Amino acid sequence: MGERDQLEPIENASKDELRALQLARLKKTVQQAYERVPHYKKKFDAAGVHPADLKDLPDLAKIPFTTKDDLRQNYPFGMFAVPMADIVRVHASSGTTGKPTVVGYTQADINTWALLMARSIRAAGGRSTDRIHVAYGYGLFTGGLGFHYGAEFLGATVIPVGGGFTERQVQLIVDFRPDIIVVTPSYMLAIADEFERQGISSRDCSLRIGMFGAEPWTESMRAEIERRTGLQALDHYGLSELIGPGVAQECPETQGGLTVWEDHFFPEIVDPETGNVMPDGEPGELVLTSLTKEAMPVIRYRTRDLTRLLPGTTRAMRRIERVKGRSDDMLIIRGVNVFPSQVEAVLGKEPLLAPHYVLEVRRPHTLDELEVLVEMRPELYGKVSAEENSVLKQKAENLIKAYIGISATVRVLEPGMIERSQGKAKRVIDHRPKS
Ligand code: DLL
Repeated sequence: MGERDQLEPIENASKDELRALQLARLKKTVQQAYERVPHYKKKFDAAGVHPADLKDLPDLAKIPFTTKDDLRQNYPFGMFAVPMADIVRVHASSGTTGKPTVVGYTQADINTWALLMARSIRAAGGRSTDRIHVAYGYGLFTGGLGFHYGAEFLGATVIPVGGGFTERQVQLIVDFRPDIIVVTPSYMLAIADEFERQGISSRDCSLRIGMFGAEPWTESMRAEIERRTGLQALDHYGLSELIGPGVAQECPETQGGLTVWEDHFFPEIVDPETGNVMPDGEPGELVLTSLTKEAMPVIRYRTRDLTRLLPGTTRAMRRIERVKGRSDDMLIIRGVNVFPSQVEAVLGKEPLLAPHYVLEVRRPHTLDELEVLVEMRPELYGKVSAEENSVLKQKAENLIKAYIGISATVRVLEPGMIERSQGKAKRVIDHRPKS
């Protein structure tokens, strides 16, 4: 057994010990942000709050939120709390509009990140003796390097493949026999398809565990991946602004929620409209505060991710429910709120449809129209008559109407017609005029 295969002491701590540690770290973080980042000082002063007002954890609610816009306004390095000489790495997240968000790390931050990633891999069931195939992208995206450093820190063997070159992904899985794969769930499906295309059974591959994240996915996607690859599919959550991957990990023994590494990130759920803090268990937007970051402390960051806080199970640390989507991905179709992940879950009920889909939204006149493009299963290729296709289409439309309550037009396409992602999947094409 490797030295890092054991639980860290904090993973066994009681709730009280955890809360005491959080409070001490929170006070320090807020103080440093105020003293070292002019943006925070300005915001706190304008709101009439001072770090000394933070006496207990609930006092955090008095402190203003930080948004992606704050980070953009301080592009590229204005949110850093240490001199550039102490920054050893930057990453950036592209976002759909405007400039990317830039984040920085000191050496201590990189070490914390590696520790949290090693903890996540171990919590997922990984050990120092495992081989880990990293198919998240390397580069400015935090996925590849985050998992890479964590796997090394655990003492595992890293296979740093990166995203893309799907044929080669398959070859390396067959030849190197990794135990664990880390990749977006949508790209995992593309890899599984490629196994089939090459006539190799993905079911018999060496993979035991998959750590999937960076985009919303569903229980039906989990079932599909597990059925096709024989691995155990677990959810992993994180975001660049807080650190990258390494914020929360689903543990096999408590599937259905992801344990938040609360000794490093303080979670709150707020009402997305009013910003009021909601009690645990209520759905809302996840707000996160970093507790140990040096280079770029982040205070009450509005993630836009919608979830709930659940009680801890294997640890005192609380869990978040699987993130169903971002508030900015939510489509409002004729007054009904729709997340792409809801459509994914519903389509998953029809066994003849494949989990490759995209939503197109148009507003030809005054009303929004939703078209759902979905592929049929590869086994059906060339075997479906026009009549059968229209029966399938009708079934999918009825399912969407019944479960989500909206009328959508479904188009059932031949396998391979929907573009495959090699990282985060693009699930929505919005043709509506920008307002
Ligand atoms: O996606 C970090 C990451 C890498 C997480 C690898 C997990 C695995 P960003 O590019 O900054 O960072 O995107 C962060 O992706 O706010 C969520 O909206 C979404 N997201 C990340 N993980 C999940 C997940 C990385 N497990 C944004 N479920 C977040 C749903 C997720 N959405």
